[in-house]
Amino acid sequence: MNIHDIKERSIDKIAKTASCLKDALPYITQDGKYNDESKDRPFWWTNSFWAGILWQMYDVTGDKVYADYAIGCEKKLEKVMYEYEKDDHDLGFLWLLSGVEHFEHFKGEKAKNDALLAASILASRYDLTAKVIRAWNGEGAKGLAIIDCMMNLPLLYWASEQEKDARFKKIAMSHADSVIKNFFRDNGSVCHIVKFDTETGERLEDLGGQGYKQGSSWTRGQGWAIYGFIQSYQWTKEQRYLDTAKKVADYFIGEAKKNDYKVKCDFCQPENDNLYDSSAASIAACGMIEIYKETGEKKYLKEAENLILATSENFCPWDNEKDMALVNFGSESFEKHEHLALIYGDYYFFHAVCELDDILN
Ligand code: GLY
Repeated sequence: MNIHDIKERSIDKIAKTASCLKDALPYITQDGKYNDESKDRPFWWTNSFWAGILWQMYDVTGDKVYADYAIGCEKKLEKVMYEYEKDDHDLGFLWLLSGVEHFEHFKGEKAKNDALLAASILASRYDLTAKVIRAWNGEGAKGLAIIDCMMNLPLLYWASEQEKDARFKKIAMSHADSVIKNFFRDNGSVCHIVKFDTETGERLEDLGGQGYKQGSSWTRGQGWAIYGFIQSYQWTKEQRYLDTAKKVADYFIGEAKKNDYKVKCDFCQPENDNLYDSSAASIAACGMIEIYKETGEKKYLKEAENLILATSENFCPWDNEKDMALVNFGSESFEKHEHLALIYGDYYFFHAVCELDDILN
């Protein structure tokens, strides 16, 4: 299948899935059926990705039903902001694909207000001493920052633009600069978690997090870095963010090629361990497409296409009509060591496919 065929097949499949899920908040599939986190875990970080898929469907089909379902998802997220102790760094994921998309499509003061409120709570997590946005909550998470959080920064850039107020953007840039200083290794890879002393701001240690082990290279984390830094470049036009995105992308490409673009959970896991993470490939591809758009360097477009074609060929259950997922073979973490269909894997795959089709055809 070429990219255009993959897009058409994806649209057909999502249309069927949407008629079952409507405005649910799916996370993973069980026996091929997506679950719904609406009742038990409305605050879970992945709860906006179905809305993100629905907005993308609205864009490609023009069918208003998808926008209505996406707004239904957003309504379920509103109450999350009033449970302060459950709110964390992932308010960016939650609101960029729900309230911000709603506002960008239809305007509306409520969506804007809620997204700005989410941005304010996110900004309040900035640690003045360590100069990072704090990850997670509770005593055990004190002083922790994670690479994933690069993806939450666009909510702050967006808030600055809306409010004509540089404070949000400055916090985002300070976090991004601390990540450049503290997360990178010489080969262009990033670690998942860094722990700081919250009294002195000193970097204490890096942790393996969801990857194989301390010092290893969790592939989804590399993807978050590529896509996160290129978006920081797009919002600020600061060359160092583009250079950083390219550095991780080049590292990712070099490693992915070694396994014919079938991306494992960690580039450093033992060679005979076949735990994959298809979501990492799609996230990295999304980032590479944006690098191509900014630089015109065809290499990044081609490598994004290679990643998506390999994902489609090896990990998409196209022949299984009963499987709601677009993509299988995602993994939450190396420790769990389990293949899953993850809603964010579907979101980034579909987004990359739509972008590639627009550019190539
Ligand atoms: N942001 C959490 C993850 O990537 O699993």
